[in-house]
Amino acid sequence: MKFLVTGGAGYIGSHTIVELLNAGYEVAVIDDFSNSNAETLENIKKITGKDFSFYEGDVCDKQLLNEIFKKEKIDAVIHFAGYKAVGESVEKPLMYYRNNIVSTLSLLEVMEENNVYKFVFSSSATVYGKPHTLPIKEDFPLSATNPYGQTKLMIEQILKDLRTSSDKWDIVILRYFNPIGAHESGLIGEEPNGIPNNIMPYIMRVATGEYDKVHVFGDDYDTIDGTGVRDYIHVVDLAKGHVAALEYLKDKNGLDIFNLGTGNGYSVLQLIDNVSEVNEVDVPYIVDDRRPGDIASCYADPSFANEKLGWKAEKDIKDMCKDAYRFANKQKSKKIIK
Ligand SMILES: NC(=O)c1ccc[n+]([C@@H]2O[C@H](COP(=O)([O-])OP(=O)(O)OC[C@H]3O[C@@H](n4cnc5c(N)ncnc54)[C@H](O)[C@@H]3O)[C@@H](O)[C@H]2O)c1
Repeated sequence: MKFLVTGGAGYIGSHTIVELLNAGYEVAVIDDFSNSNAETLENIKKITGKDFSFYEGDVCDKQLLNEIFKKEKIDAVIHFAGYKAVGESVEKPLMYYRNNIVSTLSLLEVMEENNVYKFVFSSSATVYGKPHTLPIKEDFPLSATNPYGQTKLMIEQILKDLRTSSDKWDIVILRYFNPIGAHESGLIGEEPNGIPNNIMPYIMRVATGEYDKVHVFGDDYDTIDGTGVRDYIHVVDLAKGHVAALEYLKDKNGLDIFNLGTGNGYSVLQLIDNVSEVNEVDVPYIVDDRRPGDIASCYADPSFANEKLGWKAEKDIKDMCKDAYRFANKQKSKKIIK
């Protein structure tokens, strides 16, 4: 089987391609490198010893998508491409709505024109807004507090309407919790351009000496130590969740939604302590004010994915911290050489 992976040069997409190639599937990849680079694709080939077709371009470009579908025999699509920075989405809502919504509509239209109806979508735990209780189950109420979250909610709705319109469509929506870590080779991982929005790449820049200290936003939440609690999941476990979802889609009709998380919550200070301890590095931090919109705790009930997909996150917080640091150190050496 061959899968089209949009946004495949990005953080989660690149790890997913490795797992798909290792499982014996073929892939074709499209990315416009708006938040990634070509080196990642070379590193995927180094890790797996396998090749794949790559198209540089925008998923909003229907002509290019049609060329890809005509040339490659695509059986299913995994759609990672999109912008993902919450703060930036508040400043540039049109850019977010255009890229995330238009790319998805273009892709779905071209799929329909080419009779490809199996689709896996990257959604996010952000669609649960402020959960009324924990752990979070898939049928909890949904809401969004920023344009990024709205795009995920809107796309989920589009997919539900599409499935209602025709039972040809087989769709899996995956709601990710907080992916961190990197491939154990240290060749691929998360290296955002500019100042990182997510906590782990920021912690890594402190651990490798690039930044002075981590800013911890609020230590007066109702949690174990007052700092925010999140469900961190190793990106390789998350990637394996996509392989499981595609295998599930082979002979399952309908639209299903799964939480991909570990079910365990760790606070920011626990994360910092783990990075420090497993890698024997200092990670200085200061406590700043709470950030508007942040919630105290968020962690998944992943039992539906465990049961239906036969998938379970296997790596623990120490693996995540060790692998993230190995990748960060390699990135740092490359910056020094440059
Ligand atoms: N990383 C997280 O914490 C997280 C959590 C929940 C959901 N998600 C979702 O998962 C998906 C992948 O996230 P990621 O962390 O790998 O992000 P990423 O930015 O590393 O990867 C996204 C990739 O898509 C590409 N891209 C963006 N717009 C494109 C377009 N119009 N055409 C072609 N390529 C385009 C970027 O260049 C990048 O390589 C996103 O949809 C994101 O919203 C991520």
